[in-house]
Amino acid sequence: MKTSVYDNDVFFENYQKLRSNPNSLNEVVEKPTMLSLLPDLQGKKLLDLGCGMGEHLQLYLAHGAQFVVGVDLSATMLTQAQADLTKLSKKSPHFSLYQLSLEELEHLDETGFDVITSSFVFHYVENLPALLNKIYTKLNSGGVLVFSQEHPITTCHKTGERWEKGVPIEQRAYRLRHYRDEGERQRNWFQQPFITYHRTIATIMNHLIAAGFRIARVEEPMLEKQPKWHTEFKDLQHRPPLLFIKAEKI
Ligand SMILES: C[S@@+](CC[C@H](N)C(=O)[O-])C[C@H]1O[C@@H](n2cnc3c(N)ncnc32)[C@H](O)[C@@H]1O
Repeated sequence: MKTSVYDNDVFFENYQKLRSNPNSLNEVVEKPTMLSLLPDLQGKKLLDLGCGMGEHLQLYLAHGAQFVVGVDLSATMLTQAQADLTKLSKKSPHFSLYQLSLEELEHLDETGFDVITSSFVFHYVENLPALLNKIYTKLNSGGVLVFSQEHPITTCHKTGERWEKGVPIEQRAYRLRHYRDEGERQRNWFQQPFITYHRTIATIMNHLIAAGFRIARVEEPMLEKQPKWHTEFKDLQHRPPLLFIKAEKI
């Protein structure tokens, strides 16, 4: 199995700090947009791909989901998810967690999902068409896939400054020089190297269509009130940080 950078102690500690901030991109943009795209969850069975610490699974249960399944590569993330979800549902646990890479999703025994979600994960996956085919078989007919990922205008970055900067406008233009150039990107977060994959919006949509999905909704949320804690978020009024797609199995 692959390894996850989230199992690195320094990375995980910094990631947890970031996630505990109420002004994080996850809290301010990602979770509200994800919830707005989901159907009524009452009585539904959900799968969250790359569930991390299980925060979305908690949300889905709070919104009436009958049973939630989380899959992630990182043992550290799953240990935290297990602890937090167990606290919430002491009597009858309505969740299962599996340590599994998305590249091996066919090995997940659970199937028959009404909704499959994934937040901030698809840009870690090299072979998106293969994953989408597996997701399609795990969904019930009429089921939906809703995912967010780093926006392709973000994932395209290769080297150097992301911003063209000037005075007095600090962030004058966001560089899209490598947008057409799809594929691997060497990334570094909290001084830990890892790899993500850049695909254009058209490629992502065409992969969904080729897998048999109908694209029901696309969102590129932008912030009206800018969080102050991270300089990179200063300009999110005009630059979408995330791409959301809702796709239906037809
Ligand atoms: C940015 S975190 C997002 C966690 C969670 N979805 C959330 O929004 O709170 C990315 C997660 O994807 C997981 N991940 C990355 N690549 C993966 C893969 N190939 N298979 C399974 N999980 C993966 C990581 O371990 C990590 O938990």
